[in-house]
Amino acid sequence: MDVVAAFEEGLGNAASHFQAAFEAAHDEPALRAANARYVGPQGVVTKVMKLMPELPKEQRRGLGQRVNQLKEQIEAAFAARLDSLLHALRNAELSGHSLDVSLPGYGAWLGYAHPLTRVKHELLDLFTSLGFDIAEGPEVDLHENNFDRLGFPPDHPATDMQDTFFMQQPVGVNPRATLLRTHTSTVQIREMLKRKPPLAVVSAGAVFRRDDDVTHSPMFMQLEGFMVDEGVSFAQLKGVLTHFLWKLFGKGIPVRFRPSYFPFVEPGGEVDVGCTICRSWERGPRECRVCKNTGFMEILGCGMIHPVVFEHVGYDPERFTGFAFGMGLDRVAMLRYGISEVGLLYGNDPRFLTQL
Ligand code: DAH
Repeated sequence: MDVVAAFEEGLGNAASHFQAAFEAAHDEPALRAANARYVGPQGVVTKVMKLMPELPKEQRRGLGQRVNQLKEQIEAAFAARLDSLLHALRNAELSGHSLDVSLPGYGAWLGYAHPLTRVKHELLDLFTSLGFDIAEGPEVDLHENNFDRLGFPPDHPATDMQDTFFMQQPVGVNPRATLLRTHTSTVQIREMLKRKPPLAVVSAGAVFRRDDDVTHSPMFMQLEGFMVDEGVSFAQLKGVLTHFLWKLFGKGIPVRFRPSYFPFVEPGGEVDVGCTICRSWERGPRECRVCKNTGFMEILGCGMIHPVVFEHVGYDPERFTGFAFGMGLDRVAMLRYGISEVGLLYGNDPRFLTQL
């Protein structure tokens, strides 16, 4: 084929196909690639132009004009197609889903009740289901409510500086007049002074004593309960507490009443439940560090309210009888969750608390 024919063929090919090639390109990179196939360094039109010097002189000018025209057409078509592609892209951006440029928020860390609070609510629920009312007392109370009206003799060892945090008093006021309550039994006095029998009350809250070791924290939680009416008996005390302990630790757990001394009850006792760690009542006696092989764990103090307490609150001890009980909520929580150190409950370490 001579040069003119080759030139014509290249020119004709390019002229008849470039438009369709540009239309077929649906994004900018595809369009630029198509453009390069015509006017790029290896493009059809570029190759044709390289034949120019070999063309016969008389045809060179005419063919040269045609190839230049074609180049201009290609350039114009490329620019128009690029323009329309960019427009379409922009329109799609504007009319499509809007872009959410906000950062996702920090996930909220959902809190939940402290294990002691959970145990407290559980026990209060249990007693309210038995008809007990809930009462509250202040953490700072009078010496009288904490000790004297409960029948503690003035020199009782529990009133000693060793156990009690006394509040500072102005000069001239008895330095032992107010204190951080050492037990929730204060609520017995406060409620009985306010109300007349029959009454059945529970109360839970913080109490304070000056001891601090693995099994004692200077602040801890107690739950107190008492019931007063005509004819309240020790049998009712046993019934209520056994029901309560079975609800708490499972029906059938051994419950043992032992005589003990508290100034505000007579007779007074302590209650033990079967050790929930070794469960020796089911599995036979075994070595157990928690109950020291006794098979029992002490859980609460209780008794029949002492007549002297009734006298101090203005109830007739000949007419009314009542029972009372008190327990450490920490102790219940420790048995419940298998915790060996009371301090863990008060350390507020989330690494510990989130495991419960
Ligand atoms: N208040 C006593 C204490 O903190 C516990 C207690 C014992 C409460 C006997 C009572 C009770 O109501 O009857 O050690």
